[in-house]
Amino acid sequence: MPKTRQILVTSALPYANAALHLGHILEYTQTDIWVRFQKMRGHECYYVCGDDAHGTAIMLKADEQGITAEEHIANMRAIHEADFADFLIGVDHYGSTHSEENRVFSELIYQRLVANQHIAQRTIVQSFDPQKKIFLADRYIRGTCPKCKTADQYGDNCEACGATYQATDLIDAVSAISGATPIEKESLHYFFKLPEFSQFLQHWTRDGHLQEEVANKLAEWLDSGLQEWDISRDDPYFGFQIPGAPGKYFYVWLDAPIGYMAIFKSLCDQRGLDFERFWASDSSTELHHFIGKDIVNFHALFWPAMLHSAGFRTPTQISVHGFVTVNGKKMSKSRGTFINARCYLDHLDPEYLRYYYASKLSRSVDDIDLNLEDFVQKVNSDLVGKVVNIASRCAKFIAQGNASVLSKNIENTELWAQASGAQQRIAEHYENRDFSKAVREIMAQADSANEYIASREPWKLNKDQAQRQQVQDICSLGINLFRVLVIYLKPILPQMAAASEYFLNDQLDWASAATPLLGHRIESFKPLLKRVENEHVEAMLEASAEQAAALQNATLAKASSSEPLAPQIEFDDFMKVDLRVAKIIRAEAVEGADKLLQLTLDLGDSTRQVFSGIKSAYKPQDLEGRLTLMVANLAPRKMRFGVSEGMVLAAGSSEGIYLLEPDSGAQPGQRVT
Ligand code: MSP
Ligand code: ZN
Repeated sequence: MPKTRQILVTSALPYANAALHLGHILEYTQTDIWVRFQKMRGHECYYVCGDDAHGTAIMLKADEQGITAEEHIANMRAIHEADFADFLIGVDHYGSTHSEENRVFSELIYQRLVANQHIAQRTIVQSFDPQKKIFLADRYIRGTCPKCKTADQYGDNCEACGATYQATDLIDAVSAISGATPIEKESLHYFFKLPEFSQFLQHWTRDGHLQEEVANKLAEWLDSGLQEWDISRDDPYFGFQIPGAPGKYFYVWLDAPIGYMAIFKSLCDQRGLDFERFWASDSSTELHHFIGKDIVNFHALFWPAMLHSAGFRTPTQISVHGFVTVNGKKMSKSRGTFINARCYLDHLDPEYLRYYYASKLSRSVDDIDLNLEDFVQKVNSDLVGKVVNIASRCAKFIAQGNASVLSKNIENTELWAQASGAQQRIAEHYENRDFSKAVREIMAQADSANEYIASREPWKLNKDQAQRQQVQDICSLGINLFRVLVIYLKPILPQMAAASEYFLNDQLDWASAATPLLGHRIESFKPLLKRVENEHVEAMLEASAEQAAALQNATLAKASSSEPLAPQIEFDDFMKVDLRVAKIIRAEAVEGADKLLQLTLDLGDSTRQVFSGIKSAYKPQDLEGRLTLMVANLAPRKMRFGVSEGMVLAAGSSEGIYLLEPDSGAQPGQRVT
């Protein structure tokens, strides 16, 4: 046994504003498997996680429900903790960033940064909602794109033409919170002087703490020059006040990673562990963070720089994974593939998904596809068909033939040596977070075991009295091979391993794979894992789509009861719009534009060319020949792809786009009033 390591492991802290979905579960499964493996190997390993409880989004969510932020985060924390427990994520402690410990550490680290002159202050101008009296981050501002004039775009980029801009450049900008027109307002902000850490980070990011593809991505940022990082937010904000700065709060991303320390501190207090041993700048312990690819800069740039300045140790390893897609596409609420953790649990066994994810996880940051057909097939054929099957086939002969006591000898020492000897290779795959390779190796061993049993045919031999000892020896080896497979799978399938431990009447750790059970009494066999049924997967997708639809209806109901979208106008104002029936005579995709179609419209006596953002809803060929309505006197607009001479009418939102069409019989060019 190598020397015992001391390892602290974290997963990214989920935001306390939404339930967990199967994307989150990928990360928590990945972390949990690695942690269980380390613990099985006898290392001293702690896994902490908790809710990321601060920020504007959480404050607004609580407002929306008419409860305090504290109540809201307490509710979410209970939901998240239940999801963790039911997915068998074995955290040693689940905390929250909204804690006294975290306030203390955030202030301490901030004060050290100040003392080291790594904090700058300067006044900046920002959009401000004069009604709600709140500064508006870009995602809380909507307006018309200054480039292509598409309405209802976010404050930093246009989804129609891809332009990026300042929120202040948006045309007719409104606050997404109150609908008020934002004003510009000055405010003093605090910045972390990240550029002073350029050299440190150039080195740190190439020093074995990151996957190479992650380091390469960071090098792009490092080489193009780092910016100072704005770490303050103005009142109202749900977070920690900055000491000595009335009305200013730490930006959520400042105190979130510090939450790793604070949550670990409360574990230390619970268990009498030595916090310093893990966090002192000269610590010889290991610190591992598991995160998704979207939050790399926070963990691999800001965080090590802050820790370095504040005199704490930096992470040993940051493990980055890709995003979960379902059936090859981004998770989508309307297709029912945006699957909440709880919805999955209502229909399926958590170990199915743990196994499936393990079979797909590697060191790469590529996205991971949850293909539901493949999921059913793989779980059934590998776990039920290959692994559990060995035990169920062999156990009955041992029970009947020898009162459940295994033989005292190994029937095929070569085969035993092969299975038991795979231990080191599989351990290396786990250690390197190459779980897919571990799974492949384990299944290769399962194949050998099954081939062995199939070729020896104990069920035939058993008919002959003289061969019965043979049968006992073959099936005893079968049970021992099964036991080795379960040891190897235990980090992935803790529940099935526990049931198997009961069946085998044995406690399994990693080293157990070296020695077989000989002359050992086992318990009677009970099914260890059920097959995945297709109907259950279908039911989950249906429930998921229903949940999404219910949520959508609630949002729509809210939207229709709210303020008008534009100020009241007079009849004469309306009559200024020249609305006409138009016939689409040609529709074509526009190269380089994701959302636009180029339409040629027949207006009776003339034709017009119009660019319309309806590509996501219609195939061009399906539009040709259809009638629609158009605004014919809209001033022509020059766009990246050409001039647009008007606008066709469609009802639309993020949920769908529906082109308006007159009743049949209407003639191109006819006026609409
Ligand atoms: N609160 C921050 C993390 C702070 S850590 C100090 C946050 N929260 S999150 O809830 O949005 O995401 C939590 C983790 O889940 C992140 O690592 C994120 O990358 C991961 N995932 C969120 N959606 C995901 C998928 N669809 N697929 C895989 N992982 C995903 O970020
Ligand atoms: Zn645009």
